[in-house]
Amino acid sequence: MNQQDIQKRQSIIDACRRMNALGVNQGTSGNISVRHADGMLVTPTSMPYDAMQPEDIVFMNGDGEWQGARQPSSEWRFHLDILRARSDVNAVVHAHPPYCTSLSILERPIPPIHYMVAVAGGSDIRCAPYATFGTDELSVNALAALEERKACLLAHHGMIATGTTLDKAMWLTVEVETLARQYLTCLQVEEPPLLSDAEIQNVIARMSNYGHRD
Ligand code: 13P
Repeated sequence: MNQQDIQKRQSIIDACRRMNALGVNQGTSGNISVRHADGMLVTPTSMPYDAMQPEDIVFMNGDGEWQGARQPSSEWRFHLDILRARSDVNAVVHAHPPYCTSLSILERPIPPIHYMVAVAGGSDIRCAPYATFGTDELSVNALAALEERKACLLAHHGMIATGTTLDKAMWLTVEVETLARQYLTCLQVEEPPLLSDAEIQNVIARMSNYGHRD
């Protein structure tokens, strides 16, 4: 393992710890992958982030093969499928943030309640239908919900955020959780009014000339 590989693996561990410190995940319920060679580096299953060392991060090739003492995350299927299907994605964050997960339990997408919905790529953040964790079916559902989007909810489960870099996927995780919190807060009063599709497209166009590019 060269120094660059060690740093890349450490950045995954740092992101795992950050997601728990930020309150967008708890315990070992999340997992992270980053594109690497013809496959990916992915967190090992069920391992406390504080105990994780660079050598615990699993390299999986593009065919889903891996070696070593640590087993890859039980969610490796959708991580690999997203990275294979989406050349615009280099990092995938899966977490169980409290507000996103609450909305996912209600099987509700996040509609255009706020212009920041546009940072996920369109006028809503979809909620993928439920499928058992770790299954091909969950991966198929997640990929469909991510079509022309950078993030989605997973019904009765949590969420996925992607990015061209791990920092961007982490940033988007926090943004989506913030939107979910705002939406759930509004729902306590009433179903909020929504922005139009045209306005979201307008925002996306403005953002492409501003700091939120990809
Ligand atoms: P892992 O510990 O296997 O990554 O799984 C946690 C999880 O997110 C299941 O959905």
